[in-house]
Amino acid sequence: MNVVLGVGGGIAAYKAAELSRLLQDRGITVQVVMTSAAQKFITPLTFAALTNRKVITDLFTDRGEEETLSSAVEHIRVAQDHQLLVIAPATADLIAKMAHGHADDFLSTLYLAFTGPVVIAPAMNTNMWNHPAVVQNMRVLRERGHRIVEPGEGLLACGTTGPGRLAEPMAIAHEVSTVLFGVKDLEGEVVLITAGPTEEPIDPVRYITNRSSGKMGYAVADAAVRRGARVILISGPTSIPIPAGVEFIRVGTAREMRDAVFSKLGAANIVIKAAAVADYHVSNASDQKIKKTAARLTLELDPNPDILAEVGAQKGDRILIGFAAETHNMVAEAKRKMQTKNCDMVVGNFVNTPGTGFASDENAVTLVLRTGEIVEIEKASKQDVAGKILDQIQKLRLVAPAKS
Ligand code: C5P
Repeated sequence: MNVVLGVGGGIAAYKAAELSRLLQDRGITVQVVMTSAAQKFITPLTFAALTNRKVITDLFTDRGEEETLSSAVEHIRVAQDHQLLVIAPATADLIAKMAHGHADDFLSTLYLAFTGPVVIAPAMNTNMWNHPAVVQNMRVLRERGHRIVEPGEGLLACGTTGPGRLAEPMAIAHEVSTVLFGVKDLEGEVVLITAGPTEEPIDPVRYITNRSSGKMGYAVADAAVRRGARVILISGPTSIPIPAGVEFIRVGTAREMRDAVFSKLGAANIVIKAAAVADYHVSNASDQKIKKTAARLTLELDPNPDILAEVGAQKGDRILIGFAAETHNMVAEAKRKMQTKNCDMVVGNFVNTPGTGFASDENAVTLVLRTGEIVEIEKASKQDVAGKILDQIQKLRLVAPAKS
């Protein structure tokens, strides 16, 4: 998630520094844009150091020979590359410019080019805040659908007391994540998700793995964060981006995954085991690279712990979801796994249908529920499928209490 933080010229500009940290703590990438007045209160260098990015300060930068078309259309590129614009502090001047569509600096021009959600945190002297011109401009911005983080009351820098003080950076960060991450029906839940393949070493160079990309489990993790859950994602080796806002634990082998799962199980009340865990590991794995010879080489395999079955044996009140990647008899297999591993739902998918399953961006799955219900989810993006899986989990939690 990429957010533009527009900083206006007010005493409260220094609080935007804390806001930039709070947003980044939530896994959000922050691009700061400062008005020229803002730079009188706090330097671009502060934000550049905090965000590890160049701060945008001018519509027409003096870049000598670099002054090309690309700098002239930078506000368009920034508008396209970011999912939300938050303006904090929003001064009376910035509010007036936005309300009336002026575009005489980078931030106001970006505002007009930006089509995503806008969060505005005003800050100014009480008399300015109460002035009919500002009241009217604020009405325009509210009617436009922008989210306003109302200023608080208190002693202002000018010595007066009343409304106008910038909202707490925490409240602004909360509003930004609510807008970015949407419905919050999993707020208060702790979801533990495993994803990806495992790697079982043969020697320090070689290993046994499988075709799982981790995309399905990561999509579920991403969707759960957006819906307000605390998400612990335990992942085998993958090459896809870690979803913003998750607590991430990287593991290699099935045994490492088991240890990670049990170290976090106490905190979790929903467990989703989307990982393609290797069923075996090499019993005689070598510490040194095995040299090629003309002789036949035999690898001996020992069974791995079945993490899902172990969690199922001590599931308590948790909701437990397993996955069944099958090449045939999928529903029957899913039902069998639900029984033997004590799951509340098993997500079954055929891995031999082209365009779905491993590594692809889409999936079509069959949900086998402990209520006996079978729900088909037609081919859709893994994001959409993830949302539907979470919808069913919510239903399970509300309709029938989990068994111990
Ligand atoms: O029995 P099977 O391996 O096909 O079951 C798949 C389900 O069991 C998946 O949810 C997978 O994450 C989980 N599993 C596990 N530990 C294993 C093998 C599979 O947790 N060793």
